[in-house]
Parts: sequence; C-alpha cells; structure tokens
Amino acid sequence: MKSQLVFHGTLIHSRSLDDLAILENAVLVLETGGRIAAIREGVSRAKVPELLRSLKLGGEDHANVRFLRRTEFLIPGFVDTHNHAPQYAQRGLGQSMHILDWLEKVTFPNESRFSDPVYARRVYSRCVDGFLGQGITTASYYGSIHAEATKILADLCLEKGQRAFVGKCNMNRNAPDYYRDESVESSLRDTEACVAHIRCIDPEGELLKHVLTPRFAISCEDALLAGLGEIAKRNGDLPIQTHMNEAATEIEYTKTLFPGFANEVDLYAHFGLLTERSILAHCCYMSEHEMERLKELGCGVAHCPVSNMTVGGGFMAAPVRDFLRRGIKVGLGTDSGGGFSSSILDAMRQALIVSNAREVMSQGRDKGLTIPEVFYLATLGGARVCCLEDRIGSFQIGKEFDALLVNADSTGVMTMVEEDDSAKTIFDKFIMTGDDRNIDEVYVRGRLVKGGIS
Ligand code: GUN
Ligand code: FE
Repeated sequence: MKSQLVFHGTLIHSRSLDDLAILENAVLVLETGGRIAAIREGVSRAKVPELLRSLKLGGEDHANVRFLRRTEFLIPGFVDTHNHAPQYAQRGLGQSMHILDWLEKVTFPNESRFSDPVYARRVYSRCVDGFLGQGITTASYYGSIHAEATKILADLCLEKGQRAFVGKCNMNRNAPDYYRDESVESSLRDTEACVAHIRCIDPEGELLKHVLTPRFAISCEDALLAGLGEIAKRNGDLPIQTHMNEAATEIEYTKTLFPGFANEVDLYAHFGLLTERSILAHCCYMSEHEMERLKELGCGVAHCPVSNMTVGGGFMAAPVRDFLRRGIKVGLGTDSGGGFSSSILDAMRQALIVSNAREVMSQGRDKGLTIPEVFYLATLGGARVCCLEDRIGSFQIGKEFDALLVNADSTGVMTMVEEDDSAKTIFDKFIMTGDDRNIDEVYVRGRLVKGGIS
C-alpha cells in the first residue's frame, strides 16, 4: 500500500478576509490523490499514532508522519492571478516608462521571440520553475500571441506540476507588424487550437485551463473581442482575463478607439467578456458605475501593486478597500514582468504600502490593509478570483493540498526567530521579511514540486 502523507505541527490559513486561523499541534492527513482527508487541532506528538488509528482512513500503519519544528509551518500555496510568462526574461526592464511606450519599446520586441519554439521552451521552463520556487502553486498566465509557444507553456506546467490558467494572447492591431495576429480569423483559430490542446493534455482540468486572453481593448478590433465573447459563451468552463483601467493614457486612448462606450467596464461587458470567470488586472481608476457593474457581474480583480507603481506611468493605487467593502473578489498578481518581482510576498508588502497611500488619499475612509488581509488576497482571495475556492486556497477537508512548508530558520534575510516568539509573530516576520529561501517545500495536489528529500 502506498504510504499516506501526514503532517504534524502549525497550519496557518485564512478562513475569510479578516479571519486568519493558526492551528497549533495540528494534524493534516492527505489522501493519495492529493486531497485533504482530515485535519485535527491540539494533538500532542505522542497522540498522533492513536489519532491516525481512530481516523480509520486505511493505511494508517503505513503513514509517513512529518513532525514540523517550532520554526516550520504550513500555509496554502500562493495564487498569482496575473502573470505574463513571456516577460520572464525581461523582468526589471523599462521600469520607469509609461505603459504604451513600455509595450512598444520593451515588451513587444521581447514577446515576439516566442515565435521560436526552442526559445519558448527554454524561457518557459525557467519561468515555471522560478514561480514554483516562489511558492506560486497557481498562476494565471498570459502567453504570447503564438499558439505553439502557448501549448509548450501548458505542457511545461503539467509536467512540472503547476496549477495554471494558460492563455494565448489575442492582439491584432496597434502593435508592430512583426508582433500581432494576422487576422481576426487566425487569432480565433489559434485560440481554439490552444483550448483543444489543453483539453487534450488535461481532460479533467486537474491542473490546467485555457484562459481567454484579449490583451486589452487597444490591441483588439471589435470583431476580435466579439469572437472571443462568442467562444466564452460556448465554453462555460473557460476563464477570461484582460487588463482594465490600468493607466490614464491607456484609458484615454481606449476612449478614442471606442467612442460609443463611456468606460471600459461597459465596453468589455458589451462583448460578453465580463462574467464571474473574468480576471481583470489593475482596475486602478474606477467610477462608481464601473464598480457597481463589476459587483453585479461577479468579476474578480487582479491587484498588481508592484507594476502599478513602476511601469504604467505614475502612481496608480487601486481602490482595493473599496472593492472589498462592496464584496468584489480581489486577488494579487505579480504582473511579472511589468512588475519587477516574481514574488507574491513582495506583492503582499506592496499591497500594504499602496493601501496606506490610499488611506491618505481618501482622507481616512479607505483604511489600509492588514497582514492577515494581504495574506488572504494571496491565497483564498486569489482562489476565489479564479473560481477555484472549492478546490484550493485554504486547508479544508476535501480540498486539494496546494501548500508551502515555510522554514523560518533558513539562512536568508528574514528577521531572526526568538525563543519566545508566538506562531503569529513568526508568521508576521515571514510575511514582511521572508523570501523564497524560507519556502523549503512546495506541494500542488499533494505532489512535491519543490524541495524535500528526493
Ligand atoms: N496592458 C497591455 N499589455 C500589458 C502588459 O503586458 N502589461 C501590463 N502591465 N499592462 C498591459
Ligand atoms: Fe499585465
């Protein structure tokens, strides 16, 4: 019989936005297949064998129990709701440029290199390994415009064990000749081919989904947006992602291209692209009307606080507290490479900083976020944005085990742990000062994808 994985120690997860649960002396039992079979709190080390016998899960005699040390704990894997895989090799470049210049001068030349499948495999392999190393167990990836490279990205996520949404990027105008879809028809055809490929390699959607990915309205003609809206309507399982209301120059330009629409929410909704499966990156400038419509339509926001303050043009602090107050779903995105960092821990910290700025800008109305709140955004909040909250995002019986084993004692830059630190203090030190050196092991659906003794 295959041995069953069991952890004993501290588990930390969010039950909701403001409910951080710290379970000490907890036992978590995994089923083969990667689901959580049992969780118990307050079990001394000596009582673990007895508990396992009483649970009668079958295989208790073979259980492989991992006893965690005081400085180790488990948290759910991070969900990166907005990430550009082909920008992996350009992270950090063009950081003070405005968004449209940055696209033209830095991004399009780089992304065009993915017409070469050999190059694509090399960069995407590093990309998936790199993000898994950062504890990103789920990523919503934009691909390049190329179908072949996008299929390679999906293959690599499956092979390396990362849960992912992978999207062929659609763009057929306002981009150079060397980097745009030839026609509406070819763009839609390539999209359908990528959808079919992902369904073929992962028929049950255990790890992968194709995500419909119009880059943004500036780069898509009406007929392309309409065609993608049609595909979304015919395929109720496919998520949708785009950039929305990111920067003043982008919003103004969009208005000149679509004079019939007063704002971007109405525009994307008109083409059938706003549903509860939509992941909208940025949403920095939002009118009352737009926020109300997002709430009605059930869309999720990918908050990308790092890129909002680097590329883009200016200081763009999305009204996250306002979204949360209205019950709009919010997760965090690295927006790598617009965002210079591929770490969700960095996105959490930047979300805190930006929210403090927002508190000042709103004369105290929109209170800054707390550490438990940004942790929620990076885990359960992101899972909700991806409509995956029934499967991942927190530790619950029946959910799949996507988790990080944090080691607060690793040599790195993290604040040292003191003898009398509580579990919450160690957790806060990790969130504010830890990095990937403190993430010893990463699990997706119970499969070890980083670290461990292999
Ligand atoms: N808007 C359109 N394309 C992009 C992109 O690649 N990154 C960001 N941050 N915004 C965009
Ligand atoms: Fe982006």
